[in-house]
Amino acid sequence: MKLARKKIFVTREHIIPDAIEYLKTFFDVDVWTERSAPPRNYLIEKATTSDGILTEITDIIDEELLQSTTRLKIVANRAVGMDNINIPEASRRGVLVANTPGVLHESCADFTMGLILSLARKITYGDRQIRAGAWKIFDQVPYVGTDVHERSLGIIGMGLIGSAVAKRARAFDMEVFYHSRTRKKNEEKNLGINWVETIDQILAESDYVSLHVPLTPETEYMIGLEQISKMKPTSFLINTTRGRTVDPQALYVGLSQGLIEGAAIDVTDPEPLPIDSPLLSLPNLLITPHIASASSTTVKRMGLMAAENIRGALSGTDMPSCLNFEAVRK
Ligand code: GLV
Repeated sequence: MKLARKKIFVTREHIIPDAIEYLKTFFDVDVWTERSAPPRNYLIEKATTSDGILTEITDIIDEELLQSTTRLKIVANRAVGMDNINIPEASRRGVLVANTPGVLHESCADFTMGLILSLARKITYGDRQIRAGAWKIFDQVPYVGTDVHERSLGIIGMGLIGSAVAKRARAFDMEVFYHSRTRKKNEEKNLGINWVETIDQILAESDYVSLHVPLTPETEYMIGLEQISKMKPTSFLINTTRGRTVDPQALYVGLSQGLIEGAAIDVTDPEPLPIDSPLLSLPNLLITPHIASASSTTVKRMGLMAAENIRGALSGTDMPSCLNFEAVRK
C-alpha cells in the first residue's frame, strides 16, 4: 500500500519556483497562485489541512491560526525575520518554526550600502528630479550631497547583516561604531570597528545610523522623537529591518524639521505605505518596497532553505535553521 504523501501549502507561487519544484519531489504541494497574500480565512483553512506551510513575512501565523489546526507540523518562513509568527504558541502546539539566516546577509548589506550612497549623494533624488522635468540647466546646487568616505557609521545590532554592512563600510573608509546586546570582540578585531555601550552614543556620534535589530517587543518603536532628537542635524537614518522599529510620526517630524538630514527606509509602518502618507512628500526621504534581500540568487537560496526546512521537519532529515526544535521535540 502506498503511503499518502504529506501536504504542503506554499503561500506565494511566483517568487520561488525552484523551492516549489524541490518540495514536489517529496510532498503534495498546493500553491497560492496570486501575487498578493492568501486571504486570512484561506490561510487558516490551509493550516488545518496541511502538514507544512511555506510562508512569506506578510502571512500572520498567530494564536488563532495555530489553535485552529492539529495537523500542521512546520511553518517555514522565507525570511530571516520571524515577527509574523507566534513562536511560543507554535512551540506549545508542537509546530516547528524555521527561518532562513545565513543566506541573505550579504545581499542585505549590499542594499544597505546602496541606500547610504544613494541617500547621501542624492542619486535617487537626482533621478526623481530629472523624470519630473526639473533638469533644465547645469546646476549642481540642489544636488550637492554628503560624502560617505571618512564619515562615521553607527550600526545598531551586530548580527550577520550588521557585520556584513560593517565590512563594506570599512572598505568605503568609514569609521564604524556598533552597539549590540552582546559584544563581538572578534568582529571588532577583524573588521576594525568599535563597540559603544549605549544606543544614545551611536545616535549622538554617528553621521549615518543603520538599524539591524530584529523586531521584538524591546525594539518596537525604539527610534522615536527622543532618539531622533539626539542625532546630529547633519546625520542620516537607514532602516532595512522592520518598519515598526521606527515611529513614522517621529520620522516625519525629524525629517521635515531638519532634526536629521535624511533617511532611507526599505521598510515602513504600515507596509505597504499608503500613497497619501505624509512621509512621501519629503524630498529627503529615500524609500524602497522591502527588497533588501531581493537579489535573484538570494531569493532562490531563501526559498530552497525554507523548502529544506520543511523537508527536514517532515522527513527527519536536518533542518538548516529551526527556531524552536528543543521546545517542540522535548
Ligand atoms: C526580510 O525582511 C527578512 O526578514 O528576511
